[in-house]
Amino acid sequence: MKKRIVLLPGDGIGKEVMHSAKEVLTAIAEEYNHTFSFETHEIGGAAIDQYGTPLPETTVDACKQADAVLLGAVGGPKWDNNPSHLRPERGLLGIRKALDLYANLRPIKGFKNLLHASPLKEEIVSGSDLLIVRELTGGIYFGTPSERRDNGESVVDTLAYTRREIERIVDKAFQAAQGRRGKLTSVDKANVLESSKMWREIVEEKKAQYPEVSVEHVLVDAAAMKLITNPASFDVVVTENMFGDILSDEASVLTGSLGMLPSASLNESGVGLYEPVHGSAPDIAGKGLANPVAMILSAALMLRYSFELEDEAKIIEDAVQSVLDAGYHTADLQIPNGRKVGTEEMTKLIVDYIRTLN
Ligand code: NAI
Ligand code: MG
Repeated sequence: MKKRIVLLPGDGIGKEVMHSAKEVLTAIAEEYNHTFSFETHEIGGAAIDQYGTPLPETTVDACKQADAVLLGAVGGPKWDNNPSHLRPERGLLGIRKALDLYANLRPIKGFKNLLHASPLKEEIVSGSDLLIVRELTGGIYFGTPSERRDNGESVVDTLAYTRREIERIVDKAFQAAQGRRGKLTSVDKANVLESSKMWREIVEEKKAQYPEVSVEHVLVDAAAMKLITNPASFDVVVTENMFGDILSDEASVLTGSLGMLPSASLNESGVGLYEPVHGSAPDIAGKGLANPVAMILSAALMLRYSFELEDEAKIIEDAVQSVLDAGYHTADLQIPNGRKVGTEEMTKLIVDYIRTLN
């Protein structure tokens, strides 16, 4: 398979972990006869320094023409006092919008050797393996009007969705559930919000198209509780933008480190953007300490969702699990009797595992 991949390393540890993902993808390409070509572009602080804007046109054009985009992380203290149009995060929001990435997928899994890393009890985290599908381009973060009124005495935000926006995210979630354990939990606030009532109706309508998927509806407040009392009961969770923002951060505590969590953002034409959930970690940047796993697992998601290379995606995920099983970990994690390694060695262990498999 021949694919063009745009790399947007960004800032801080983004650059370090991107290097790791590229090595892993190169190993996959060589071992399984694929041709991946890589093209690197600037975004965020690096782009501000070089081009005076967090999202140069050349970067947007390259992403639009690519088969998939990998992004590291943006931001850092150097740009913290910049005016808002010259903030690195603008680059990230801009590229999501430019590519119309309406579906954000966050798989969250309690890795065997890391169950104790979570602040939750091991027996609660054990067996949890869920996928949060969050609507990313609609809802209250984008609805208008959103403004102060009456000389600052009142304020309004707007939660708006179209039928089409809900249908496409619900379809994505049903499809993801088909490829997993066949259980879909739709999270809403249908006892109060009109938008949630329509959301629930659409999920009910769609059910017939996916007979092998079982569906439950859970109110968002109850879902928040269940996520940390019984996370193993979830398979795929689908929800609107703001609920998904909150629930996915809550669920991230299941794994114990931000350095383990990948994400995929997808659009309708198939150009996905894949990035770790963590930021640019200025406190450890440039020291070779960053955990590359979130970025490497993001590359695995790219193989799964953009290229439909399920076997190769699984190989990367197995490689990560097996290196952790052997006790290797970066400084953000602790494994009893484990061996602490840096970014490069962690990457090499994962690459070596992939190469010995074939
Ligand atoms: P952060 O995720 O960069 O770091 C939070 C803590 O987790 C730090 O102690 C960091 O060292 C650690 N950490 C994060 N990823 C790690 C990894 N892969 N390996 C080892 N340790 C890791 O979040 P923070 O500190 O709030 O933000 C730092 C900068 O990153 C800010 O400029 C922020 O705006 C930006 N940011 C960017 C994001 C993105 O590009 N998607 C997301 C979140 C923050
Ligand atoms: Mg958030």
